[in-house]
Amino acid sequence: MTSYLLAIDQGTTSSRAILFRPDTSVAAQAQQEFPQHFPASGWVEHEAEDLWRTTLATCRHAIAQAGASARDIAAIGITNQRETTILWDRRTGAAIYRAIVWQDRRTAEHCARLRAEGHEALVSERTGLILDPYFSGTKIAWILDHVPGARARAERGELAFGTVDCWLLWKLTGGAVHATDATNAARTLLFNIHTGQWDEDLLALLRVPRSLLPEVKDSAADFGTTDPALFGGAIAIGGMAGDQQAATVGQACFQPGMIKSTYGTGCFVLLNTGETPVKSQNRLLTTIAYQLGGKRTYALEGSIFVAGAAVQWLRDGLGIIGTSAESEALAEAADPAQHIYLVPAFVGLGAPHWNPDVRGAIFGLTRATSRAEFALAALESVCYQTSDLLDVMRDDWNRTAGAAARRPTVLRVDGGMAASSFAMQRLSDLLAAPVDRPVVRETTALGAAYLAGHQAGILPAPGRFADTWRLDRRFTPTMPEETRTEKLAGWRDAVRRLTMA
Ligand code: G3P
Repeated sequence: MTSYLLAIDQGTTSSRAILFRPDTSVAAQAQQEFPQHFPASGWVEHEAEDLWRTTLATCRHAIAQAGASARDIAAIGITNQRETTILWDRRTGAAIYRAIVWQDRRTAEHCARLRAEGHEALVSERTGLILDPYFSGTKIAWILDHVPGARARAERGELAFGTVDCWLLWKLTGGAVHATDATNAARTLLFNIHTGQWDEDLLALLRVPRSLLPEVKDSAADFGTTDPALFGGAIAIGGMAGDQQAATVGQACFQPGMIKSTYGTGCFVLLNTGETPVKSQNRLLTTIAYQLGGKRTYALEGSIFVAGAAVQWLRDGLGIIGTSAESEALAEAADPAQHIYLVPAFVGLGAPHWNPDVRGAIFGLTRATSRAEFALAALESVCYQTSDLLDVMRDDWNRTAGAAARRPTVLRVDGGMAASSFAMQRLSDLLAAPVDRPVVRETTALGAAYLAGHQAGILPAPGRFADTWRLDRRFTPTMPEETRTEKLAGWRDAVRRLTMA
């Protein structure tokens, strides 16, 4: 019998299951994409059943690939696209509306109204977030107000709300457990990150009935066991964290001042601030990095909505590349004399701008512009946005942290785009800072597996787990400072032109 750890990574465009050996090497993995629904401009939905179906299928596939069975698996860890909102019927287990995805902007007006009524200070003080459609709270309200009968059913206690972790847990346990972890709860606009409780004032403000909400647990906790019918035996579920928080754990960013950046559909930079929730002066988020043993560790977060999605757009929207990997070679071949800036505000702009209404634009096109320059502009847009985030993050952190806690910024990177050495070199160049890529790039899944393994007692405390982090490659800046300054000025000008338009 092997003590595998099964990590479920339910992301924005695909569901993945990765089976880790007890030494955290990967034994098997499976991945499935599912349809994205864009019913109106700025709207993004998933079928909740698709999320569950692909999760179950990939878990079964990974287990079969390793020739394992349920009793070979010590525990499951769940990590997930965050904020995405699902409401379901507690009796039937059926979602009452499609999952409203984190990228969805339909509640922009609701947020603007709440801001105009002067509620942002309270929301931000309690939740560490800002009033933006990104988060779950206004999405829940939208479903309650738009699905006939939903509000009355919710008030009668017939419905349940969950982010994707919670939905999958409900499904995995055959409807026996309705719970989430503190990192996911922290993304709902309803959770007080200082007390670790759902906040009655915010529930009232957003008109969300208390009965909808799950129990909130540590990130490593007893989340119940799987319905034995699913995998031919019950498996304990012991870990749960939002994907960016799981990546923070997988990157072993356990010390205050450590930073990671994950390049998935979007890009999310998290800076561990230790036991202190740091309030940003630059519209970054204050959030929970993880909660272990009842103790919360906080993070500052910068959220960019479109990173890998820009490359996906080149592939699926424009059809100018065949595969995402192709973008690297193309970008390398781009004409450096052309100054093309893509601002991929397809669903508005996240931190530090928080502008839900702008849409994307491309600047600097000439008759000589080809798909190579488009590819470069897409890759560079991700680097520029990371640079914008890091600037303000350093500012917040240096103001708050004692001099001893300040350290030279080394960014730990992971996610799909981190595989591209060209992109990571360009990132280091534009940041004028080192960029560290770990050997294990499945850091999100690794973080979830770690939480489950820690709960199961087969993986050590964070400090010792951190010793297992291994560097694959450090990228250091080589771009002349003058070029860097010029390029960044061009980017800022492009963003200014877009947001002023
Ligand atoms: O907050 C949204 C984030 O969790 C989505 O992550 O990896 O699907 O881009 P990803």
